[in-house]
Amino acid sequence: MSWMTPLLIFYLLILYPPCQANEQASLKFVGIGDWGGLPLYPYYTPHEFHTANELGIIAESSGLDFVLSLGDHFYFSGVRDVDDTRFKSTYESIFSHPALIAVPWYLVAGNHDHRGNVSAQIAYSNRSERWNYLDLYYELKFEVPHSNVSLTVLMIDTVVLCGNTYDGLDPVGPEDNIASNQQLKWIEKKLQNVKSEFVIVAGHYPVWSIGYHGPTKCLVKKLRPLLKKYNVSLYLCGHDHSLQFIREDDGSSYVVSGTGDVEDIFTDHKNSFPSSWQLFSNVVNKTAGAFVYFEVNRSEMLISYIQPDGKCVYQTSVPKRTIQL
Ligand SMILES: *[C@@H]1O[C@H](CO)[C@@H](O)[C@H](O)[C@H]1NC(C)=O
Ligand SMILES: *[C@@H]1O[C@H](CO)[C@@H](O)[C@H](O)[C@H]1NC(C)=O
Ligand SMILES: *[C@@H]1O[C@H](CO)[C@@H](O)[C@H](O)[C@H]1NC(C)=O
Ligand SMILES: *[C@@H]1O[C@H](CO)[C@@H](O)[C@H](O)[C@H]1NC(C)=O
Ligand SMILES: *[C@@H]1O[C@H](CO)[C@@H](O)[C@H](O)[C@H]1NC(C)=O
Ligand SMILES: *[C@@H]1O[C@H](CO)[C@@H](O)[C@H](O)[C@H]1NC(C)=O
Repeated sequence: MSWMTPLLIFYLLILYPPCQANEQASLKFVGIGDWGGLPLYPYYTPHEFHTANELGIIAESSGLDFVLSLGDHFYFSGVRDVDDTRFKSTYESIFSHPALIAVPWYLVAGNHDHRGNVSAQIAYSNRSERWNYLDLYYELKFEVPHSNVSLTVLMIDTVVLCGNTYDGLDPVGPEDNIASNQQLKWIEKKLQNVKSEFVIVAGHYPVWSIGYHGPTKCLVKKLRPLLKKYNVSLYLCGHDHSLQFIREDDGSSYVVSGTGDVEDIFTDHKNSFPSSWQLFSNVVNKTAGAFVYFEVNRSEMLISYIQPDGKCVYQTSVPKRTIQL
């Protein structure tokens, strides 16, 4: 101890302000993608294991109403059928913290899920109390506790929308153009009618990302204009194995949360959009990544970036949207 200690603590607090917890009643959830283990024993990675454990800890200490799962649930080729043992070895026995047992998960498929049997992942909803994969794409609505404020989430299937990825980085284009157009129409119709103060669109592929895969051209072209037109609060995705926060000059916001299984170090696409939009990246900012934690109250959505050791390394917020009634 010396006279300098208080001063040092003071400066550390200025440099690294602790992330605020949201004291008021709020709706609490996590966005997590790409946690799909490995197709060989023990069917999970150490990173997935630590991430799952931290998810349990945050559920216990801060509360967790639900999880939005952003695809790539089973590397490398999804599941075979509803009896596939990977449901147990990669999911149930890893996300097994007691505080997680009663927390519902809502899921959408990624490119690796689509290489296997997605219908079987949907059918698994009948086998599990917490696994809610209602359809390829669907709408969710939640109330912020003790308020008349709500959050609408559109869970979308970006692989149906844009195609799978093979050797190249960008999806090859929809396998079924009719199904792709149908979903796009569904998204627009939902966005036209949604009255919630907060709206999230969640899928697997990114609109923007500086990572290995980078932006998805098809989503930049087809989805981004809709996100802007209807004042969507944010777009949430995985696919690139990093955590990122991107905000365009007009305020449209993008969260990448793809570190469920591994973290990579790629920033190959950092020149694909203005660097002033890139407000956080666990790679650039040299922190670790587990998942992104959201707390929605009557006035804003607080967004916290969490490491596997539980430390919050970046925090930002999105205001209630302006809706034209
Ligand atoms: C909502 O949360 C923010 C951030 O934690 C806080 O500053 C604000 O006071 C809260 N507002 C309400 C109405 O609870
Ligand atoms: C996919 O899984 C479902 C549910 O287990 C099963 O009925 C179906 O036969 C599977 N499809 C294929 C192509 O294996
Ligand atoms: C769940 O089981 C019921 C009754 O067997 C069946 O009608 C329904 O289609 C199943 N749902 C899914 C998603 O497989
Ligand atoms: C929500 O509740 C507040 C206070 O009770 C009220 O002033 C406001 O009009 C309500 N808003 C809606 C959209 O019902
Ligand atoms: C992340 O790194 C960038 C570039 O070095 C820097 O401008 C930014 O302030 C950092 N953000 C955080 C939250 O550490
Ligand atoms: C989106 O927000 C802007 C202001 O932020 C507002 O002028 C516009 O009417 C809103 N659009 C819709 C569709 O609600």
